Amino acid sequence: METLFSGIQPSGIPTIGNYIGALKQFVEIQDDYDCYFCIVDQHAITVPQDKMQLRQNIRSLAALYLASGIDPEKSTLFIQSEVPAHAQAGWMLTSIATIGELERMTQFKDKAKDRKDGIPAGLLTYPPLMAADILLYGTKIVPVGHDQKQHLELTRDLAERFNTRYNDILTIPEVRMPKVGGRVMSLQEPTKKMSKSDTNTKGFISLLDPPATVKKKIKSAVTDSDGVVKFDKENKPGVSNLLTIYSIFSGESIASLEMRYADKGYGDFKADLAEVVSEFITQFQDKYHHYMESEELDAILDRGAEKAAFKANKMLKKMENAMGLGRKRK
Ligand code: TYM
Repeated sequence: METLFSGIQPSGIPTIGNYIGALKQFVEIQDDYDCYFCIVDQHAITVPQDKMQLRQNIRSLAALYLASGIDPEKSTLFIQSEVPAHAQAGWMLTSIATIGELERMTQFKDKAKDRKDGIPAGLLTYPPLMAADILLYGTKIVPVGHDQKQHLELTRDLAERFNTRYNDILTIPEVRMPKVGGRVMSLQEPTKKMSKSDTNTKGFISLLDPPATVKKKIKSAVTDSDGVVKFDKENKPGVSNLLTIYSIFSGESIASLEMRYADKGYGDFKADLAEVVSEFITQFQDKYHHYMESEELDAILDRGAEKAAFKANKMLKKMENAMGLGRKRK
């Protein structure tokens, strides 16, 4: 069975964008691969985090993975910092990455420009750590949203560089992105990605928002003034984004939704969408609370870390041998 790896940062509570772009995809394909799902807490600290909040977000994220339908009997769920091989292999890949290619990453440029108090070096060296996450497991498939595509290209480049320079041991991974919903947009600025760390909380729907808040956020989503429910990303980004969200949560195609709302205004459209999403969120949160309150959660994460470390350590040793680090051992 081929290996699949993906990760989510516990840098806030995941949004419906993370659900659509990542979690939903994970669940759809978890039967087809040997899956590793990671809570990438070492990535989260590349920007300042409140210690208590980070701890809480890590635990919440574990429960959110499970509430989404990740089955711990089939998939390995673990916390990045509990498997030290990630940071070790990350350093090795940082050493073969160039500053030029890291500076070209659009996520680096976006995040660096918001930092008034100096740019943490980890923001720059983040992609080789992400590459290590993936490459340590011999990963073939990486399901992510569109914003991670460039990081995946760099991962492939670093793997090829390592293989050519040292020894051909790393698998070159392939990216998998959802056909619809690979880039869910902000509800307030629909030309910008929906982000869990947006300072304008009206721009995103968190998976843990109370259903009443979800409805309010949808009703106040920015649209346009022509009043026609039609998918046109360029000229109607707000409505197109809401249609995408509607289609994903209802299972109804965008074309069929356009027909259904052809004679109706945005008011009806948003009210129905608000019902659909809040219903999903209500059921989702029931499952989330079940996992948060159960003792299972720690046992699942303990087992996950053990299984992940076993696999990652084997590749780490091979990488160290290939590079000539330490002493050669059998
Ligand atoms: P992160 O935590 O920002 O996002 C987690 C996943 O959610 C997707 N996503 C979205 N999809 C659709 N619409 C959106 N608005 C949206 N926002 C986020 C992301 O594409 C991602 O799939 N660097 C990664 C975490 C990471 C990782 C990895 C991923 C670290 N190591 C190894 C895959 C493999 C990140 O910051 O994701």
